[in-house]
Amino acid sequence: MSAKILSGKEIAQAIKDDVAAEVGKIGFRPGLAVVRVGEDPASAVYVGSKVRTTEELGMYSEHLHFADDVTQQELLGVVSSLNSRDDIDGILVQLPLPKHIDEREILEAILPEKDVDGFHPMNVGRLSQGQKALVPCTPAGVIEILKRSGIDIAGKHAVIVGRSNIVGKPMAMLLLQENATVTICHSRTVDLPSITRQADILVAAIGRAGFIRGEHIREDAVVIDVGINNVSDVSLAPELFSEEDLPKRLAAIEKRGFTLVGDVNPKEAMEKAGAFTPVPGGVGLLTVAMLMKNTVEAAKMRRGI
Ligand code: GUN
Repeated sequence: MSAKILSGKEIAQAIKDDVAAEVGKIGFRPGLAVVRVGEDPASAVYVGSKVRTTEELGMYSEHLHFADDVTQQELLGVVSSLNSRDDIDGILVQLPLPKHIDEREILEAILPEKDVDGFHPMNVGRLSQGQKALVPCTPAGVIEILKRSGIDIAGKHAVIVGRSNIVGKPMAMLLLQENATVTICHSRTVDLPSITRQADILVAAIGRAGFIRGEHIREDAVVIDVGINNVSDVSLAPELFSEEDLPKRLAAIEKRGFTLVGDVNPKEAMEKAGAFTPVPGGVGLLTVAMLMKNTVEAAKMRRGI
């Protein structure tokens, strides 16, 4: 049996179409400021895509880029100035930040009503209490994939592997809100496969390439792969990719030096799962789409629309 592929492409496009239509209707241009520090190549790619998509959907975007040696005070000043600007509805500080920066203090300085990442404790608290909140984009995107693919969540056992503030914890809150029974596993979980094999819906957000194997997956489970990892070691490829996929992946490693792999072994998931989100082309595409949705949402809320 081969799993049904849950492509993020059409779903992300449908969400972006909705956002563009909404932007056309509201009669002003929502603005998103993205703050990036240093030269992390992955961050540069993600921020580029966020800024480009904002403009494509008819919104205003500003990309503020700082050198690695920017100070805590300088960054706090930047956030404070963006907080007070009326043309900026959303503020996103791309993570990770350099080691000398206190990330928590920066994120807490963002006005909760402009916090389009949903990382501010005020939004985290609101989400956990089931109040209206700006919700982290990646887990919100996972819910969209499930709903728009016609997968029932209520009453299902959802198992999340990973307990980060960006994905694992908010994912648990959102699935709970959809009336799933939720289990969170992490690096100290004993006998992980025995728990993940109970999952109707398995969400992998650990940050380790191909970590979730066939033995972790119940026959016909829905497997959502949130990971994005670079694999550059050619010798790992035959274990990760099907015979059909392998030549394309090897060619990518040859040409670019790496290929993208999630936290799930795609070859084994395709054999075992009932449905599976691919990497690339799955959850990742939803993250940007949900950021666009949050930006319009923040703009409307701030203006009482
Ligand atoms: N770095 C990796 N994922 C994210 C995200 O969703 N938001 C921000 N701000 N930084 C990230």
